[in-house]
Amino acid sequence: MKLVVVGTGYVGLVTGTCFAESGNEVTCVDIDAGKIERLKQGIIPIYEPGLTELVLRNSQAGRLKFTTDLVSVAPDAKCLFIAVGTPQGDDGSANLTALWKVVDQIAPHVARDAVVVIKSTVPVGTNRQTWERLKEKAGREIDVCSNPEFLKEGCAIDDFTRPDRVVVGVTRPPVADVLHELYQPFLRTENPFLVMGLESAEMTKYVANCMLATKISFINEMANLCEAVNANVNDVRRGIGHDQRIGFQFLFPGVGYGGSCFPKDVRALIAVASRFGLPSKMLHAVDEVNNLQKEVLFSKISQRFGGDLAGKTIAIWGLSFKPRTDDIREAPALVLIDQLLEKGATIKVHDPVAQENVEAIYKGRLTYCKHHYDTLEDADALAIVTEWQQFRNPDFDYIKHKLKQPIIFDGRNLYDPKLMAERGFEYSGIGLRAAQ
Ligand code: UDX
Repeated sequence: MKLVVVGTGYVGLVTGTCFAESGNEVTCVDIDAGKIERLKQGIIPIYEPGLTELVLRNSQAGRLKFTTDLVSVAPDAKCLFIAVGTPQGDDGSANLTALWKVVDQIAPHVARDAVVVIKSTVPVGTNRQTWERLKEKAGREIDVCSNPEFLKEGCAIDDFTRPDRVVVGVTRPPVADVLHELYQPFLRTENPFLVMGLESAEMTKYVANCMLATKISFINEMANLCEAVNANVNDVRRGIGHDQRIGFQFLFPGVGYGGSCFPKDVRALIAVASRFGLPSKMLHAVDEVNNLQKEVLFSKISQRFGGDLAGKTIAIWGLSFKPRTDDIREAPALVLIDQLLEKGATIKVHDPVAQENVEAIYKGRLTYCKHHYDTLEDADALAIVTEWQQFRNPDFDYIKHKLKQPIIFDGRNLYDPKLMAERGFEYSGIGLRAAQ
């Protein structure tokens, strides 16, 4: 099938590449000429395991092409996927400027039997507005589908090709047939293709992300409480997780959620709710708890050093908002860095892939280290912000030998507090009393 995917961000590039891999002829379109030129040379703008190989293979096979010229490729497509960014606007709602620009551009060129599919996460009502706008601009009806994407950064290809479910919102059920055909290679009996109305599909995406964000803020609040009452959140997590109604997933306490989706989508749904006169107390709390949680590591560090961080050196392991990505959008590490800098601390950082992105913001104000052990030289303490695999089993004797004092603030509970005490560390995690 001939497909056009507009927008070569995470969602667009992964969608286009995976559909090319399953045998379709895909053209990915972006307004950024430099990005398109690099993609043509096989240079991928994002860090995503496995994506480069897949882009190269499909480009070489002639199934995956890149262009800036949307108008010339639009007429041949059976499906036109729109996966442009919907950044957070000033009032917390999603900014749809890029989406409307694409809709207006394609309207006169969409083929008679083609479907326009919106993959971008958009406020409830946007798909219907797109349908109406296309009709008005083209002077005839054009089918529209809402097809929200649930992939996670760092596991994008696996998530796309093995989705838990595919959600498709339509104005009338037959419109979904073409998407069913496209997704067929990725579907299994236990991973259904769910057809629903446009608004339900839009809500599904927001509700999924807000539910997950809620779980994280909930366990983070409980972790802080555990610490106060001398309980261990890891034991509590196991204690509740065996209740099948609760389960274990997404209940790991930490330094707060970040990334391009959770913070933005929680705020966008807050904006939708207030537009409908139903202000969401729940989501406001989720957002607020998360913002506070991003300050927890700094509070612990500051408290440990009696509020005086001038002249202190802090080593930081991990900068991206989670492992296996170089994405630092809304990353908790940035909040910690800002607070430490403000108090006059010296900061030495290491991240396997996100260092360049952080350097673009802080320039020479931080010391960037090639290896995570290099951050420890002359450091008064180590703070772990992202749970990269390579931090999970370090040489503790070496860390102890390098740090001025053996102090670790662990924002991801990577180590056992008891063992850390035995190894001679002053170790503090999230929701754990030291050496219980
Ligand atoms: C998320 C959704 O999972 C995905 O379905 C959606 O399409 C986009 O948003 P992503 O932003 O890539 O994906 O990250 P995810 O792996 O879900 O993690 C989000 C954040 O939650 C990270 O900051 C992570 O550190 C944090 N997290 C996750 C926790 O703090 N505790 C947990 O138990 C799980």
